[in-house]
Amino acid sequence: MVDIVIIGGCGHVGLPLGLAFARAGRSVVALDLDAHKVAQANEGRMPFADRGADELLPEVLRAGTFRCTTDAGVIREADVVITVIGTPLDEHLNPRFEVYRDLIDQDRSHLRDGQLLVLRSTVYPGTTERVAAELAREGRSIDVAFCPERVAEGFALEEITSLPQLVAGCSERAQRRAEELFAPLASEILPMEPLGAELAKLFTNAWRYIQFATANQFYMIASEYGIDFYDVHRAMTHGYPRARGFPRAGFAAGPCLFKDTMQLSAFNDNTFFLGHAAMLINEGLPNYLVRRASRRWPLSEMTAGILGMTFKGDSDDPRDSLSFKLRKVLQVECREVVCSDPFLDEPWLVPLDEAVRRADLLFIGAPHSAYRDADLGGKPVVDVWNLTRHGTRPS
Ligand SMILES: NC(=O)c1ccc[n+]([C@@H]2O[C@H](COP(=O)([O-])OP(=O)(O)OC[C@H]3O[C@@H](n4cnc5c(N)ncnc54)[C@H](O)[C@@H]3O)[C@@H](O)[C@H]2O)c1
Repeated sequence: MVDIVIIGGCGHVGLPLGLAFARAGRSVVALDLDAHKVAQANEGRMPFADRGADELLPEVLRAGTFRCTTDAGVIREADVVITVIGTPLDEHLNPRFEVYRDLIDQDRSHLRDGQLLVLRSTVYPGTTERVAAELAREGRSIDVAFCPERVAEGFALEEITSLPQLVAGCSERAQRRAEELFAPLASEILPMEPLGAELAKLFTNAWRYIQFATANQFYMIASEYGIDFYDVHRAMTHGYPRARGFPRAGFAAGPCLFKDTMQLSAFNDNTFFLGHAAMLINEGLPNYLVRRASRRWPLSEMTAGILGMTFKGDSDDPRDSLSFKLRKVLQVECREVVCSDPFLDEPWLVPLDEAVRRADLLFIGAPHSAYRDADLGGKPVVDVWNLTRHGTRPS
């Protein structure tokens, strides 16, 4: 018998969560479809970066409290089943409702009465109650709860224990069991209703996405009027508590913020005006930067270099990174485009010094700290993040 099986257990959320439970003394099996990640993790190697996980993974494997498998039969052995599979959008920007339906269909024969089933993916509102109702309709006695993951990618192991945990059971017993599950991990438990917790997760991500869009829109307005946005940013935030959290401009991307803003929009009959405006601004930023650069430089005669292809700084995750959109636009406009990223290993990437040497114009795609003081050869730099301190100023 095992205490906990995590479905999607080798993903960015599932693996750190499994390690955190194993560190707390529970026996955990990470179940994943991806045989490559399963093999890699079972050898003690993290498939992606998460602070502290490189050391903890071999430790819990050695202690025998953690292992990974592709065999769904293991679900039957667990007291608690946690699902953390991806919940992507379809090509029309609608949530893919079938992801959870298929998961339950696929694993229903392994689920057994008496288990606690915890949904931890970010889901379309109502999903938790629907899953619980469907299982109850089949006469199954399975407790269902929603406990959303709220960690920042790359820092999951640290944040799992420092953040309050939202716990929303579909019944009193599910609530009690889910609270008991997370109590040893979380700094605090916040009991909620499932729909409220589903909305809390989506509201948080949409709110962050809108904040980034506000900064990006202000960046565009200031730039159009020849004003350095970061002078304005400093004036707004320095010694002024009410603007303290105002973000910098930059690519707002990755696998969550855009997707979850669109999930919320779909839930609200596609009338989430703020969310859609944020999407147009954030997704339009790469085009804006290139259009602006084209007013200043003869792009068609130039080689552009993109530094940083991941979706955020010092991360190894390229999912839904806007650097790829920037690359696409630059490939149309420029003679050639070269890309570099120290966190990725791809045949089309070149080392930083080669990108700097070959490029006539550089764009900071992801604000990796290595670029802060890097020698960029005196080349002009389009630096929406204001990372390099020698980014081009509005002209
Ligand atoms: N990445 C983050 O930092 C983060 C933070 C908070 C919430 N979330 C949410 O958590 C969920 C998972 O995100 P992620 O970034 O970990 O995704 P991921 O793609 O890194 O991980 C998902 C894992 O699930 C596996 N998987 C998919 N279907 C499966 C199935 N039927 N059976 C077994 N394994 C299966 C995949 O192989 C993959 O390893 C999403 O809903 C996301 O919005 C992510």
